[in-house]
Amino acid sequence: MVHKVAVLTSGGDAPGMNACVRAVVRAGLKSGLEMYVIYEGYRGLVNGDIEKVDRYFVSDTINRGGTILHSARLKEFKEPLVQKKAVAVLKEYGIDGLVVIGGDGTYRGAQDLAKLGINTIGIPGTIDNDVASTDYTIGYDTALNTICECVDKIRDTTTSHQRCTFIEVMGNHCGDLAMNSGIAEGVEMIISPDHPLEKQYIFDKLIEFSAGKKRHSLVIVSEKMYDNIFEFVKEVQENTGIETRAQVLGHIQRGGSPSAFDRILATRFGVEAIKALLNGETSVCIGIKCNKLVHTPIADALTMKRDTHDELLEVIKLANR
Ligand code: F6P
Repeated sequence: MVHKVAVLTSGGDAPGMNACVRAVVRAGLKSGLEMYVIYEGYRGLVNGDIEKVDRYFVSDTINRGGTILHSARLKEFKEPLVQKKAVAVLKEYGIDGLVVIGGDGTYRGAQDLAKLGINTIGIPGTIDNDVASTDYTIGYDTALNTICECVDKIRDTTTSHQRCTFIEVMGNHCGDLAMNSGIAEGVEMIISPDHPLEKQYIFDKLIEFSAGKKRHSLVIVSEKMYDNIFEFVKEVQENTGIETRAQVLGHIQRGGSPSAFDRILATRFGVEAIKALLNGETSVCIGIKCNKLVHTPIADALTMKRDTHDELLEVIKLANR
């Protein structure tokens, strides 16, 4: 049975992380636990940047973007000596349970700490939606809506000037943000890891579209599909004769107030993480599948394959151009 539990956020920040921290802290306190927060992810853990908190620490945070606990990526956390230092810091505080909010990298750290005797629970928090053990990660829905707001604006000016615009979105190696924003915006083309397109096909299609009634072509591209999107659009322009621009949405996608969906998801995950710790679970991550909360061993979550997107690909084929 755990008595003192800490929570941290790690990796790229995501809207809704604060709502999750809030739920972990409040559910922990209501269950009779002593609650702690760790700043700057695993880096703060190793450095002992830890604070005991009460319920007011998380007041007025459910609607805030970013992470009030700050975040970091600590590559050195793979090293056994660094992990042992982290365990020593937790022992110093008497902390026996740890909730980590982040992506796959964050889960790996939690798995290593569990092997060293700390009870750890992972919660998926990343805009990329690239965690296989859940249908949705915290932050993905907000980022998707942010992309749509941006594309709505880009559409206006692209039409006015009869251009083609390539819009690069985040996702790391996962195409969910690209595919779903492409569907939500009804764009002319989506280029993502699940939906790669040949160069010549792209050129031919854009020429075909520009000959039709529409004054614009919008193309959503997942980051990492091209080394340099600005160089690629020059090639598009040279080969099609269509005035073409590139927009990289970048970190704007990670900011902003979380959507209602993300706040609710984050709150459900946070409460469930505390329940899992109280049940004696460790090295487990929380997720949601078909709107049911699920618990998956982190070892399985890190190796399992993501569901395929066949139905979405069919939707793109039939509803987009
Ligand atoms: O994992 C979230 C994410 O925003 C990815 O989509 C992106 O590839 C990466 O982080 C960017 O990382 P950084 O903020 O360190 O540049």
